[in-house]
This record gives sequence, structure tokens and C-alpha cells, in this order.
Amino acid sequence: MDSKLKSVYEAQDFKRVGHELIELLADYLKDTAEEKIPVMKWSEPSEQFEFWKKFTENSSDPLELFKNLIDRSIHLHHPKYMGHQLCPPAPISALISLLGELVNNGMAIYEMGPAATAIEKVIIELIARKIGYDENGDGYITSGGTIGNLTAMLAARQNAVKSDIWEEGLNENLGVMVSSEAHYSVDRALRIMGFGSKGIIKIPVNEEYSILTDLLETYYQKATEDGIKVIAVVGCAPSTSTGMYDDLQGIASFCKSKNLWFHVDGAHGGGVIFSQKYKHLISGVEHADSVVIDGHKMLMTPALLTFVMFKDKDVSYSTFNQKAQYLWEKNQDEEWFNMARRTIECTKLMMSIKFYAILISYGEEIFDSSVTHLYGLGEEFASKIKLRNDFELALEPDSNIVCFRYKPNGISEEETDKLNSNIRNVILKDGEFYIVQTLLGERVYLRTTLINPMTNSGIFDELLDRIEEIGNKLI
Ligand SMILES: Cc1ncc(COP(=O)(O)O)c(C=O)c1O
Repeated sequence: MDSKLKSVYEAQDFKRVGHELIELLADYLKDTAEEKIPVMKWSEPSEQFEFWKKFTENSSDPLELFKNLIDRSIHLHHPKYMGHQLCPPAPISALISLLGELVNNGMAIYEMGPAATAIEKVIIELIARKIGYDENGDGYITSGGTIGNLTAMLAARQNAVKSDIWEEGLNENLGVMVSSEAHYSVDRALRIMGFGSKGIIKIPVNEEYSILTDLLETYYQKATEDGIKVIAVVGCAPSTSTGMYDDLQGIASFCKSKNLWFHVDGAHGGGVIFSQKYKHLISGVEHADSVVIDGHKMLMTPALLTFVMFKDKDVSYSTFNQKAQYLWEKNQDEEWFNMARRTIECTKLMMSIKFYAILISYGEEIFDSSVTHLYGLGEEFASKIKLRNDFELALEPDSNIVCFRYKPNGISEEETDKLNSNIRNVILKDGEFYIVQTLLGERVYLRTTLINPMTNSGIFDELLDRIEEIGNKLI
């Protein structure tokens, strides 16, 4: 072997660089928590590209790489990170992820990930219990909520169509009913599955941005008259833009009355199953045939980690019932430990360990503390917005997603849209805070996801002051 290739795997080098990386990351955690660095140093995509192009030509030092990478990334551990739904991971979870990346067990079959596969089963049993499933509940971990929703929709289709889709393809016009506010991954999953626009039946929402459960019957009848066989209803727990939960009990009753599959997209707020205070928001989830919950949103793990849960364990074996004989022998259908048989992935990351490290280090209660605290921050921020004259709260938040806008007296709706968009742009580029924007109806709102437990009341005041200051300058 040439000496350079040998050096790639040199344990001493790993130890030295590894120690330096941990030092760097520990400083990073401290600096972000103490707000010593901005949440992000904005640079235009072309400048970013030029930088890395030059770096590629001029540098061969991994430490330089680490430093620049941190410096040029967005900092989720910064208390003023209040934007998209991705959590600042618990450091213990990031550490075990490094272990997972190094031992690199592929998880497709038991022998390619024995420990992480068994750990996955331990965690799945916990999640099933928290959802309220009986001992027949089961599931697995997959790579993100988008894949999770696709998996659940495939299971719904498998359940509704009695012919062998894997062999014969699909010969029916199927449809799924879903809130007009649902995350686009549901729409995308159904289009991937060939449902087309007519098979994606969007149900309007009420003024709280929750699905109008009373309209399910009407839309169901109309779809049936149009020759579409409705197979499922998706409930949002909560929807992405506003963070408002659908009436899951109502959807569950409707699904029961029509014998439809009931899926809950709890990618963002499914983690509320751990919160004594807020779990009522997801009441009805125990009736769901399938549920998706992201660990990387509300459960403190690095991306990606998604639980796909099924009320009926058989479904967790049959959804990808396709033959791959080189991986397993006949009659191994129900072996929980051969994961590729059950999930969309062949090789998958050792995702279970990301959640497990937090669980064993801090106990199950830590998920309650975190979700409860963050949802509480949502209420606190909303009450501060309401106290301000020129601010408008879009909705009393259900969760940690809060939408609002700056609307001084006397400016039109169109001007308000433009103003809030411009405010968000200034905030993005000056890097002190990170917030996003969304459209509610036709109108532009500022949107925050309070997903960092370090975010606090003082920061809310600072943000609102800053928005007012920018807004007044722009006017
Ligand atoms: C409600 C909902 N479902 C699904 C997703 C997609 O999840 P992921 O980003 O893990 O693919 C999101 C992402 O924001 C979401 O909010």
C-alpha cells in the first residue's frame, strides 16, 4: 500500500485532529450560546462558491477546513436562530453520530448493524407506547419526513389495493384527502406514486388554518362521483407554515366511518407525545394507521432521523414486499432485524443511536422538558407580539411556530407585504437573527420556529425592536 493511502487510516492522526475538532466544537457551542458570533454571516451564493473554489486549490489542512466550514455555516445553537424547523442537536447525539459515521454499519441486514438494529427496536417500542398504540404497534426509522410520508402513503395504497401492485402496476384512480396547508412532501409523495393532481384532494382550512373536518364528507362524495377511489386522509400535526394542529379525533372518526387509512404527518410536532402539558394537541393519533415523527425537528437529534409508525405491525413488513434474494433467504419475511426488507433504504445510517444517546444520557423526561419548553416559548412570544401596537399576530400558536407581521397604521396590505419581505431580507443579511417568512392566504408574514431552548424572552424583545427599527427605516 502506498504510504499516503496508509496515512488516511492512521489512528494517531485521527486522535490529534479529532481532539482539535472537539476543542473547536466546544468553543463553538460556548460562542454561540453566549452570542459571541452572529447567527450567520451572509454571503451571496456566487461569493460562497468562489471562496470554496479557491479553498480547494489552496488548502490541504483539515483544521482550516473545519474552521471555515463553521464560520460559513448557519448556527442553529445560536439563541437567535429562530427560523426553519431543524433543531440544535444535543451534543451527545452529535458525538454518537461521529461514532456511527466511523463504524459505518449499513443497517440493511442484521449483521451489517447488529447493535444499532436492536437499539432501533427498543426505541420503536417506546415511540409506539407514547403514541398510545397497543402491543401490535410497530415501525422503523427512515431518512427524513419526506421519505416517511412517502412510505406511509405506499402503505396506505398497499392496504387499499388488493391486487399485487409490485407485479401488475396500478390500474385504478386513487385519491388521498389532505389539508391545503399540508407540507408539500405529501403532495410530492402522491405525485411520485402517479396519483396526479386529481388524486390529491386538497381540503380547505378554517380561520385557524386547521383542516375543515366537516368538509371531508362533501369532498369524499365528489371524488367518488368523479371516479376516484379515496384511500386515505392525512392529518397535520401540525401544518408547516402556521404550526396549527388538525382535529385528529374528527379525522379518525371520518376514516373509521369510511374504512379509510388515517395518516398523521407529525414530522414537526409528533414529538409532543412526550409532553405532559401539550400532548392533548395530538389526541387522536392513537387511531392513526401510520404516523411520521422527525427526531431532527423537535426531538433534539441531528438530521436525519424519522420514525414511521404503524398501528398494525404487519404493515411494517409488507409495504416494500419485494424480492432481493441476494440479501436474504426465503421465509425471512417477519424478521424485524433485517431492516432493508421493511424500509425504502437498502443501506441506511445508524440513525437509532442519535436518539438513543440522548435517551440513555438524560432519560425519557428530557424530551418532555424540551418540547414543553419550546411550545411555552411560542405562547410567550405570541403574548409579547400582542402587546406591541404596530405588530399583528397571525394566530394564537398551537406550537412553537409563530407567525406575525409588522403593520404600522395607514399602510395598505400590498405595502405591508412588501415591507415584511424587505424586513426579512435585511434581517437575513445582517445576520443578528435568523427568521423566515411565509404566505398566509395571499399575505406575507414573518415566521419563527422557536426550536432552540436557549432562545428567551429578552431575545423576543430585541427581535421586535429590531423589526420595528428596520421597518421604520424602510418606510
Ligand atoms: C409537516 C412536515 N412534514 C414533512 C416535512 C418534511 O420533513 P423532512 O424535512 O424531514 O424531509 C416537514 C418539513 O419541514 C414538515 O414540516
